Amino acid sequence: MKIGVIGAGTMGSGIAQAFAQTDGYSVVLCDITQDFADGGKAKIAKNLERSVKKGKMDQAAADAILNNIETGLRDISADCDLIVEAVLEKMAIKHELFGALDQICKPECIFATNTSSLSITEMGAGIGREIIGMHFFNPAPVMKLVEVIAGYNTSKALVEKIMEIAKAIGKVPVQVEEGAGFVVNRILIPMINEAIGVYAAGTASAEAIDTAMKLGSNHPMGPLALGDLIGLDIVLAIMEVLQSETGLDKYAPEPLLRKMVRGGALGMKTGKGFYDYSR
Ligand code: CAA
Repeated sequence: MKIGVIGAGTMGSGIAQAFAQTDGYSVVLCDITQDFADGGKAKIAKNLERSVKKGKMDQAAADAILNNIETGLRDISADCDLIVEAVLEKMAIKHELFGALDQICKPECIFATNTSSLSITEMGAGIGREIIGMHFFNPAPVMKLVEVIAGYNTSKALVEKIMEIAKAIGKVPVQVEEGAGFVVNRILIPMINEAIGVYAAGTASAEAIDTAMKLGSNHPMGPLALGDLIGLDIVLAIMEVLQSETGLDKYAPEPLLRKMVRGGALGMKTGKGFYDYSR
């Protein structure tokens, strides 16, 4: 099966790796410039290099995965069987993308979006085929969960097909109906926002908040470090969707979150968030 992953950022490159390392799948990784697409493949190469160094994988296996990934602009996805979109979390951009792909992709190609909170139904409006949510978690090659999200017009048959594909690449899918933030982000992201509020109030240092949540709640990483991993721009975008979709002020983004995003402190991807990643 040929998979087109559109968007070669953190999530897109992780999703591309998850497919490319499974027998029977080949990947085209696309972005708006060849450089961005190649940059996504370079991230995968770095991950694989780490696995080889740790002795978890031999060099030949790493090379085979990389050779299974072609990079380019979205036009090269025309003969794909499944598209997984992982571009910016902006409805207009995603909608335009699916409209353009509808013109170039073969009719039987399935359209899936990795959106973290936007409406699948709205994204599919006016597009000539069904759209489904196939939501991976960061880091995508490692995290087991895939939320499979049905929009208002998504058929049961398509839900089942995507559940099967998720299982085939070693993931555990859960079926979710469309709703603000779906399941995980509806619960997880307000917790990160709350941790930012605790930090902004001066109640504890970032390290103390993260240690408290790791050891007091048995989380694998603290909420501020997790916000840095996800990307604070993504955290903000999800809070804004939760607030606007529900109309509830309990989802109001913390002012410090907004300020950091405006200041370019987005977490790991920019080298600075609640922690410094520049070295
Ligand atoms: N990319 C790829 N692989 C990675 C990675 C990355 N960014 N970070 C770690 N890994 C791999 C490591 O190579 C290692 O693999 P092996 O077992 O094969 O050696 C494995 O993950 C474990 O890594 P480490 O031993 O270095 O560290 P760890 O045990 O502390 O695990 C972690 C790291 C998996 C990130 C773990 O801390 C964790 O699970 N954190 C929580 C992550 C989480 O909650 N993600 C969901 C965010 S929400 C989201 O993504 C949805 C959304 O829409 C915003």
